[in-house]
Amino acid sequence: MAKRKGIILAGGAGTRLYPLTLTISKQLLPVFDKPMVYYPLCTLMLAEITQILIITTKEDAPLFRRLLGNGEQWGMQLSYAVQRRPAGIAEALIIAEPFLDGAPSALILGDNIFYGDGIRELLVKTNQLSTGATVLAYWVKDPERYGVVQFDANGVPVRVVEKPKDFVSNWAITGLYFFDAQAVTLAKRISPSARGELEITAVNEQYLNRKMLNVVRLGRGYAWLDAGTHEALLASSQFVHAIESRQGLKIACPEEIAFRNGFIDRGQLLFLAKQFEKTDYGAYLVRQAESDMA
Ligand code: DAU
Repeated sequence: MAKRKGIILAGGAGTRLYPLTLTISKQLLPVFDKPMVYYPLCTLMLAEITQILIITTKEDAPLFRRLLGNGEQWGMQLSYAVQRRPAGIAEALIIAEPFLDGAPSALILGDNIFYGDGIRELLVKTNQLSTGATVLAYWVKDPERYGVVQFDANGVPVRVVEKPKDFVSNWAITGLYFFDAQAVTLAKRISPSARGELEITAVNEQYLNRKMLNVVRLGRGYAWLDAGTHEALLASSQFVHAIESRQGLKIACPEEIAFRNGFIDRGQLLFLAKQFEKTDYGAYLVRQAESDMA
């Protein structure tokens, strides 16, 4: 199997966060001590994905480039593409077609934050699956806000629905999707939904109909946050702050993950730390270079 490539979808109008997002992309806003996009980026890095396409609006693309560069500093390859208007999450697969060049993909939404013990192992294992699609499901109290999945008595997924008006199940489908190489073809087959979008749920439904949709349920010990409203944005910052200040370990520090994954060596980590010399972030990177904690 060709190596899986990552896609971060970080476009959208961000209207739910106005006026915060009148002049800047939502995914560049801070979640405590880092820009939001670091979190999905690090999720893909934990899955050991090194080639990633970042899809943004035309206006925001230069800012993302300034922030993340070509990825070389982290031993990665980052590239960029523009989505002209928010025509739906599944469009990301179509935009990414030349980048993917027939490879399987992992698509993550730029405002999704995953955290929990064992997440690295789960992501690495999922990355190794070669056929079909794998999505992560998470129990929520407000499933009408999400794409949801229903299981039969044996735990087999039988139905996926986008934002169901009538109750279907409490299992929301999170914004991280592992697809085999067929996904681009399947995305091209769907037509816009009633709200005028190419729905990612319609792609998942096609995998389900072919009995090729694998659903991994994230248990209660995981946190899945989407920072898409003012409340959720603040709650995400508070969550990250609470864990980081207690442990003195960072959530979603790309330099640290690059080092621990062997994408960069100790010398490069110390070189990167120099850029942040007078900050806690820089001191943290130096501590990681000296620590043997995996
Ligand atoms: O967060 C998980 C949920 O994300 C899933 O459960 C749903 O099935 C899926 O449709 C999506 O629901 P949302 O209502 O949260 O999607 P939203 O339109 O808010 O888009 C999610 C992110 O993707 C948002 O940060 C903006 C970005 N986006 C969205 C669309 C539709 C784009 O960059 N381009 C787009 O065309």
